[in-house]
Amino acid sequence: MGTPFVSLLEPSKLEGFQLGVPRDTLPSTIPRTFLDAMEVREEVFVKEQGVPQENEFDVDDPRSCHWVIYVSVNKTEVPEIRNEEGNVVRPRKSSTRSTPVGTIRMVPFPHEPHPKPGGDYWDGVLKGEANDANSHDIPSSRPFVQDRPTTFHDGKEPYIKLGRLAVVKDYRGYRFAGQLVKNALDWIKANPSFFDPSIRELGLEQLGASTEAQAPQWRGLVCVHAQEQVAKAWAKWGFEIDEGMGKWWEEGIPHVGMFLRLDIGQKDIRI
Ligand SMILES: CC(C)(COP(=O)(O)OP(=O)(O)OC[C@H]1O[C@@H](n2cnc3c(N)ncnc32)[C@H](O)[C@@H]1OP(=O)(O)O)[C@@H](O)C(=O)NCCC(=O)NCCS
Repeated sequence: MGTPFVSLLEPSKLEGFQLGVPRDTLPSTIPRTFLDAMEVREEVFVKEQGVPQENEFDVDDPRSCHWVIYVSVNKTEVPEIRNEEGNVVRPRKSSTRSTPVGTIRMVPFPHEPHPKPGGDYWDGVLKGEANDANSHDIPSSRPFVQDRPTTFHDGKEPYIKLGRLAVVKDYRGYRFAGQLVKNALDWIKANPSFFDPSIRELGLEQLGASTEAQAPQWRGLVCVHAQEQVAKAWAKWGFEIDEGMGKWWEEGIPHVGMFLRLDIGQKDIRI
């Protein structure tokens, strides 16, 4: 296995994407990095963890940043042949292919409200509740409003969310997940205004602010809805369990909320 490398895909139009159909039947406008990310997510979440295929690709994918980690896998195409004296008469022929083995995404604010403790969510919809505007809305219609306060979140501060972290089974234990988390955090530290909404484009009113200084801007808060069994790994990467968020279920899998505050210093307001 060669040295891994990581690719970043910034938010992009993904119209026409469908999971589970052959790549060559999808629109050629869909970036390859995204197809690779979905190949990993399908393998891990759909095939291994049993998440319904139709719930895996969602409305947050086009507005998120995605990272994919690749390793070069060398495969023997034609084996070496030696004669009776042990001399090579035909050398081994091999080919090297970059294989996507892991992925993570970073979702910008605003988000849906924090999940209800004890809630049972399927495709973002709380079981037992009508599929109304607050349960599965499109991100552009989500208001910048007050959420319920939790241990690390005052309910108001804009936060980014890491999620869909997955590494293909055969490649686990090589710290690829850790490398993906580090890449994502280093990138947002270097680009702290990337997701801040433009005041000029949206207008203060839509941003729920009356002055420019009140417009939502990211100040270093990162959240993850962690599968409970992976919370220890997230803790290693600096995240702390938010007791106030409680525990809930997504696609039948128990989750907890965790936060990390990155020190990003001062930054300019995006006008
Ligand atoms: C979780 C996952 C992404 C980790 O990938 P990985 O590349 O093997 O992780 P790393 O090698 O970077 O391991 C990071 C640390 O977490 C620990 N860890 C990894 N997976 C773990 C798991 N399932 N349970 C407990 N600890 C785990 C490792 O022991 C490691 O600790 P170390 O650095 O002290 O050795 C991978 O197991 C996976 O895809 N699981 C299925 C999907 C999933 O649960 N995603 C998480 C959604 S929140």
